[in-house]
Amino acid sequence: MIETEDKPLLKLRNIRKSFGALEVIKGIDLDVKTGEVVSIIGASGSGKSTFLRSINAIEMADVGLMEFEKFRFDFAAGSANHPTRRQLQELRSRIGMVFQSYNLWPHLTVLQNVIHAPVKVLGLPRSEAIEIAEALLQRIGLYDKRNSYPSRLSGGQQQRVAIARALAMKPKLMLFDEVTSALDPELVHEVLTLMASLAAEGMTMLLVTHEISFARDVSSRVLFFEKGVIAEDGLPKDVLQNPQSPRLQQFLHRILHDNVKAGGEAADKEAVAK
Ligand SMILES: Nc1ncnc2c1ncn2[C@@H]1O[C@H](COP(=O)(O)OP(=O)(O)O)[C@@H](O)[C@H]1O
Ligand SMILES: [Mg+2]
Repeated sequence: MIETEDKPLLKLRNIRKSFGALEVIKGIDLDVKTGEVVSIIGASGSGKSTFLRSINAIEMADVGLMEFEKFRFDFAAGSANHPTRRQLQELRSRIGMVFQSYNLWPHLTVLQNVIHAPVKVLGLPRSEAIEIAEALLQRIGLYDKRNSYPSRLSGGQQQRVAIARALAMKPKLMLFDEVTSALDPELVHEVLTLMASLAAEGMTMLLVTHEISFARDVSSRVLFFEKGVIAEDGLPKDVLQNPQSPRLQQFLHRILHDNVKAGGEAADKEAVAK
């Protein structure tokens, strides 16, 4: 197969997802190229998490087409290209996901957390998995904590380990869902710094965030979600500094107000200032 440079790494067409009568994702089209960093912003309940979760099939879309690496899926029930269980497992091992709650295994040490999936899912020899994990822990500055249990780590450290755990699978795409939202303000920076360094190294990333200044500085594109659709999609400077819809203007205004009220992120103010 001939792969051209311009071929997107991830291609989604008409992705839809309902929970009962509630349609949450209403026909999303999206192409993400290798190396792109796409930030998703939008009000609570607009479907951001459900969208990310349907990309690595934690939630299965009701209909829609997805292309990622060798996979070509058609989520419509009964389709010949409906993903099999095995394909879904493989897909999930190629797409890393990090959540707001770090979800580290409390009964495993930091190192054991990081080697778990490479050994269990990829079948890597333990020694090789340890080598990869130790290099990642060096990189995130937590090598010294490799034999500690998660409960001994700060929230920021745990979240960095969660990112290292995802990276240990050598994913082609990383999904981040509000990964700094549960952190104390003074711990947000260390996690964002790690994400920015991944972006700078060319990792393809889709992230849901309320960190407007981070979205402005690090992403190549920003999407504004509204009620299950992408209402705006463009360069950070256009979407964040020249929002077209009143809804986005209100959203940015509110987020700015909340952040200032919380005493944080004066930089957010700059991010939306013209
Ligand atoms: N598993 C689920 N079952 C039923 N409703 C859900 C489920 N997950 C999400 N929802 C609903 O879908 C809507 C979008 O949720 P979500 O994707 O979490 O939005 P966001 O991440 O933008 O806040 C909300 O109304 C939420 O209550
Ligand atoms: Mg969410």
